[in-house]
Amino acid sequence: MQPTPASVSFDLNGAAVSEQVPPATLLAALLRDRLGMKSVRLGCGEGVCGSCSILVDGRSMRSCLMLAAQADGTSITTVEGYAARPDLATVQAAFVEGFGAQCGFCTSGMMATVAEYLADGSVSDHGDPVTIRSALNAVACRCTGYQQIVRLVAGLAGER
Ligand code: FES
Ligand code: FES
Repeated sequence: MQPTPASVSFDLNGAAVSEQVPPATLLAALLRDRLGMKSVRLGCGEGVCGSCSILVDGRSMRSCLMLAAQADGTSITTVEGYAARPDLATVQAAFVEGFGAQCGFCTSGMMATVAEYLADGSVSDHGDPVTIRSALNAVACRCTGYQQIVRLVAGLAGER
């Protein structure tokens, strides 16, 4: 017997989405494969690399560890929606202008992580390189060596 599909409704980049999905559907699969959010990138698929991270209610979440049904009632932002949000557009622009990506595979997850970090009211000094590096530990990047990203995040912190 087929399991009963789950209904899931959420805001995706400012637009209302309602879908019926098999209950075991991962949020990453719903976003990328059905809804066309190609910025959502699956690396390890088991919560380690961070490349699949997206913003869920402003928090960076690993979409490979969330069921689609768990997103019901949330507000989701992927990189496809950054341009419409001034706070996120500046993050995206900083990655471009500050050479924050090489192959780009981790970059969506990295930007979600940086956006959450910059909005985190519990951080007293967003420009502190040690604090920035600690936040960036959430995403594995095999290309950049992180230095450019640390620099651009410090620059963003200085502008805010
Ligand atoms: S693909 Fe989700 S953490 Fe690696
Ligand atoms: S830019 Fe290639 S893995 Fe980060």
